[in-house]
Amino acid sequence: MYHVPLDLTNIPAIKQFIGREGDLDHLRGSLFPMTSSDQKIVVLHGLAGIGKTQLAIHFAISCKDAFSAVFWLNAATRETLCQSLAMLLPRLGHNENEPTAKQDLEQQARSVLKWLSKEGNSKWLLIYDNADQCSAAPTEQIFATSYNIAEFIPPANQGSIIITTRDMKLSKSVRLSQLYSVQRLPTEQAVQLLMSYGVPALRAGHQSTTRLVDKGPLTLADRLDGLPLALAVAGAYIQETGTPPGKYLEMYSDSRSWADLFENTEANCQYPNGDLIRTFRLSYSEVKRKSYPAAQLLLLLSCFDNRDVWYDLICNGINKVSRPTWLAEITTSEARFRRTIGELRNFCLVERTPPDNDSFSMHPVVQDWCRHQIKLEEEKVADQQGENELLTTTALRAILKAFRLRPTVRDGNYISAFSHIQSESSEQ
Ligand SMILES: Nc1ncnc2c1ncn2[C@@H]1O[C@H](COP(=O)(O)OP(=O)(O)OP(=O)(O)O)[C@@H](O)[C@H]1O
Ligand SMILES: [Mg+2]
Repeated sequence: MYHVPLDLTNIPAIKQFIGREGDLDHLRGSLFPMTSSDQKIVVLHGLAGIGKTQLAIHFAISCKDAFSAVFWLNAATRETLCQSLAMLLPRLGHNENEPTAKQDLEQQARSVLKWLSKEGNSKWLLIYDNADQCSAAPTEQIFATSYNIAEFIPPANQGSIIITTRDMKLSKSVRLSQLYSVQRLPTEQAVQLLMSYGVPALRAGHQSTTRLVDKGPLTLADRLDGLPLALAVAGAYIQETGTPPGKYLEMYSDSRSWADLFENTEANCQYPNGDLIRTFRLSYSEVKRKSYPAAQLLLLLSCFDNRDVWYDLICNGINKVSRPTWLAEITTSEARFRRTIGELRNFCLVERTPPDNDSFSMHPVVQDWCRHQIKLEEEKVADQQGENELLTTTALRAILKAFRLRPTVRDGNYISAFSHIQSESSEQ
């Protein structure tokens, strides 16, 4: 009675979905109707471009038979969400669901939510995709485009829901939701993704029993550290231009050509948020609007090695004469520093370094973007040059002091300081 076939129009599904078996198993276990009659909500959270949207879409397509109806909603803004919901109305089958001329978009959207709350209609799956403009609490709605997604969740305790978002805090505003963090692709799947774009796995004339021996795609997959968006862009560029993976890596490491690699590739067409540079800028701007010190801290962290930066190391860089004011403010105590880092962790721009989780790391592609952003800001805004030079001198001072303080620095951190030195010198 409530059966509606899946319609793929407007859904940005990719041709070849790679891997994610464990994630798909998790979603099946959490969302299949037979698991519970209650409403089931999973919030897929993770870094921009990590593959949340594609995971949700692939789950919907591959598991559609387990649900009576599957609907994909563009939750980017309140308006796109209302539009997506309203567009479903004519497909819901009964005359009472037909939109009347008088109904505005929001009323039509409400009618769909009502249909989803009908008794006995409990086996649907809704995907709220790219819900990045939502805030944890209505009081936090500081941007004109922000909205509270909870208003658009069908009120009856039934059905299955996936929400994809970059903003970890969103799950707080959706009652009884389960937060699930989408991680980078493991190396083998990252290589597979590159190969799906025709990136050769073996060098000409090189024979081997295993397909993963070729150092080109493997090194590239490692360098891009399992970030699907960066891998797809690399694959598409290599396919479109016939560039060998090794050469791509060389250009990727050259700050003069880095940004040009992301323009106009086929991979961008399947990605609704523009290109990789723009998409990280969106997360950065979001952070900056919430907390200027957090955005600056992100840029400062990118001046270190991307792994293992800790509070005392940053404090080492503070000099009473020349220090950024924002840095002095957030380092008055470790508690304040960690709160600021929290703003970055919220968008997965920074993560805790395992196993002790006492220090912080950054995805290498995020670091590449930050370094590009530093240069860009310097070029665009004359005043910014001094500000950004302070970032690099602070990082250098911090690293040098970590060496001078050797006896008081933990062994592991002392070793990490070496990688920070290497990272700094490769950047200079
Ligand atoms: N499992 C996968 N197999 C193949 N390609 C993938 C996979 N996951 C992601 N991609 C590639 O990465 C791109 C970005 O993925 P996706 O749009 O799912 O990221 P996202 O996490 O939703 O990003 P955002 O936070 O910006 O919405 C896709 O357009 C696709 O090219
Ligand atoms: Mg997405």
